Amino acid sequence: MTTVTAAQAAYVVAALLFILSLAGLSQHRTSRSGVVWGITGMVIALAATIGLASRSITATGLVLIAVATALGAGIGLWRARVVEMTGMPELIAIMHSLVGLAAVFVGWNGYLDVDAELTGSLLGIHHAEVFIGVFIGAVTFTGSVVAYLKLAARIDSRPLTLPGKHILNIGALVAFVGLTIAFVTRPGMGLLIAVTVVALALGAHLVASIGGGDMPVVVSMLNSYSGWAAAASGFLLANDLLIVTGALVGSSGAYLSYIMCKAMNRSFLSVIAGGFGTPAEDGEHGEQGEHREIDAEETAALLRDATSVIIAPGYGMAVAQAQYPVAELARRLRERGVEVRFGIHPVAGRLPGHMNVLLAEANVPYDIVLEMDEINDDFPATSVVLVIGANDTVNPAAIDNPASPIAGMPVLHVWEAGQVVVFKRSMAVGYAGVQNPLFFRENTRMLFGDAKQRVEDILRGLDALDTPTQAMVTTSR
Ligand code: TAP
Repeated sequence: MTTVTAAQAAYVVAALLFILSLAGLSQHRTSRSGVVWGITGMVIALAATIGLASRSITATGLVLIAVATALGAGIGLWRARVVEMTGMPELIAIMHSLVGLAAVFVGWNGYLDVDAELTGSLLGIHHAEVFIGVFIGAVTFTGSVVAYLKLAARIDSRPLTLPGKHILNIGALVAFVGLTIAFVTRPGMGLLIAVTVVALALGAHLVASIGGGDMPVVVSMLNSYSGWAAAASGFLLANDLLIVTGALVGSSGAYLSYIMCKAMNRSFLSVIAGGFGTPAEDGEHGEQGEHREIDAEETAALLRDATSVIIAPGYGMAVAQAQYPVAELARRLRERGVEVRFGIHPVAGRLPGHMNVLLAEANVPYDIVLEMDEINDDFPATSVVLVIGANDTVNPAAIDNPASPIAGMPVLHVWEAGQVVVFKRSMAVGYAGVQNPLFFRENTRMLFGDAKQRVEDILRGLDALDTPTQAMVTTSR
């Protein structure tokens, strides 16, 4: 078997492994094997690509590839080990920016190093590929850098609203089409520089005009762009695996964006056009009545007497790393015969599946972790809801107040339960910057403090309720 045939066969195996990986990652139970399929596919793909390259490059070239692979793998391993779960979106955004930058370099290389055998319409197609690759790559690069800066709070997360911003975006797209036609007919360095600059500006502008509340969609949208950028590079490098993998990432990212838009009741086009997720007017931030507090002992007593409990976790549970005591609380209540379930909002936390990952880490049984749509009708029949570090995802203003910046976003109907206990540290607003009327409802009690400490206090409170005090024992004698 020649090296080329062996590499092609390896590419087919790797592509199948990537598909298996996506299938595995779609369910909790199979997600670990999904990751293993993905890693195996990537190792095979890298080995086959280096094997192919080794036929036509010098020893120095091979050493450079080895150094680059070792450096990349080292940095990747280090970042993946140290990144906090809450910092994942930033890490993903910066990774996407590298895919975009690589696509720009591959495109430029495709222009500077044209295969002499390409002539006529094939050369035209090659130039179109160069242009499209550079364009998608540059949009992905600056878009991801701006997304990273917003998510890491290094720049203001408010949407940038330049006058005539839609005209600017459409103008950039029209310029891209015009420049592509010009480049295919008369290729030149000036045109390539022009499209790179237009695309870099468009990427930065597109993401800068998207508001904080819509950032989840932006991250998955950039994921999709990075896939298409990789696919474009695949065409230029005549690498089938890169085309297949890029298309898998591009289409799954696009589908994820669609699901998230649905979860937030946004139209995909309007998110891309930007300006949504606009922070609330000042009035939205203010308190809307009086809130009532509860302490951990009282919450323990409330839970002891409950027959059914739903826990609605959010970003604060991740910050506090409260999933372990929360899992222990669920276990203890179930032992007492209380029906305990978790209600998971699709955009709770800061990345898709954030809460599911944390709860799985703490060994919460999968069958009591339900999606929002599966549990939303059950709140009226529930004795107590524990809202642990969630805010926007349980905000009734999304339903009651058409003027709210989160109006129309489906939320967990926690307020319909008998009693609601909200765990948070203050009356501060959530990610979307909107005050939450839930905190001022008759049946809501605020349990202030770090979520992990408060849940641990409740566990101690349950212990105390189980152990009759010396005084009580004496009296009963
Ligand atoms: P958020 O609305 O972000 O609210 C989290 C709450 O947790 C805050 O109000 C905060 O209040 C509290 N908190 C923080 N640290 C805490 C701690 N140590 N102990 C107790 N409470 C703590 O949460 P959510 O309901 O999960 O909503 C998610 C939001 O993020 C949505 O707006 C969503 O659109 C957005 N978003 C989601 C994603 C994805 S893909 N999931 C990605 C980016 C953005 P205090 O400061 O008063 O404690």
